Amino acid sequence: MLKIVVCVSGGGTNLQAIIDGIADGTITNTEIVGVISNNKNAYALERAKKAGISAVCISPKDYETREIFNDALLNGVLSLKPDLIVLAGFLVNIPPQMIQAFRNRIINIHPSLIPSFCGVGCYGLKVHEKALARGVKVSGATVHFVDEGTDTGPIIMQKAVEVMQGDTPEVLQRRIMEQAEWVILPKTIDLLANGKILVEDNAVYIK
Ligand code: GRF
Repeated sequence: MLKIVVCVSGGGTNLQAIIDGIADGTITNTEIVGVISNNKNAYALERAKKAGISAVCISPKDYETREIFNDALLNGVLSLKPDLIVLAGFLVNIPPQMIQAFRNRIINIHPSLIPSFCGVGCYGLKVHEKALARGVKVSGATVHFVDEGTDTGPIIMQKAVEVMQGDTPEVLQRRIMEQAEWVILPKTIDLLANGKILVEDNAVYIK
């Protein structure tokens, strides 16, 4: 059984897709052992509670320095003894010691086709604003392993989504969530839980 911790900051629709995927059998061999939010008002915390999953808030605001927060976050994760950490809209820089402790065991969902519209400062609605400003006809989502860079880790899965004329950032964001994020994040977790993903020299192979 793959034990996962899901880290969230906001609405938690990706968390919900994981909860639903486990319930309906799209995701097998997987248990969510905890949800961690950096934001006490995140609706994702409610979703976790409704599903009977233990959920905590670990916020940088409650710690004197970033280092102390980083330790608290790592300890919070370690106390849950996960096999995999899933960043599902988690707007916190992952501390280097956590990346080292969980090399190729942290995945992130990004709402564009990496390497487009990603990197430092490119998150949330900004991703879709940039895609629309550039006039791309196709965008999408990417699930990747987390390394020391921002959105630079090995790519596991991507799904393209059409950009329509007249799209606003909000409309495009929603379409990418529905058609890509809520599909490829659960699928990736299922593949990982069933030993079907191999990482070699930064390249990912699906067996
Ligand atoms: C998603 O678009 C995700 O790709 C991005 O943040 C958003 C989180 O949405 N990293 P939600 O909290 O899962 O609803």
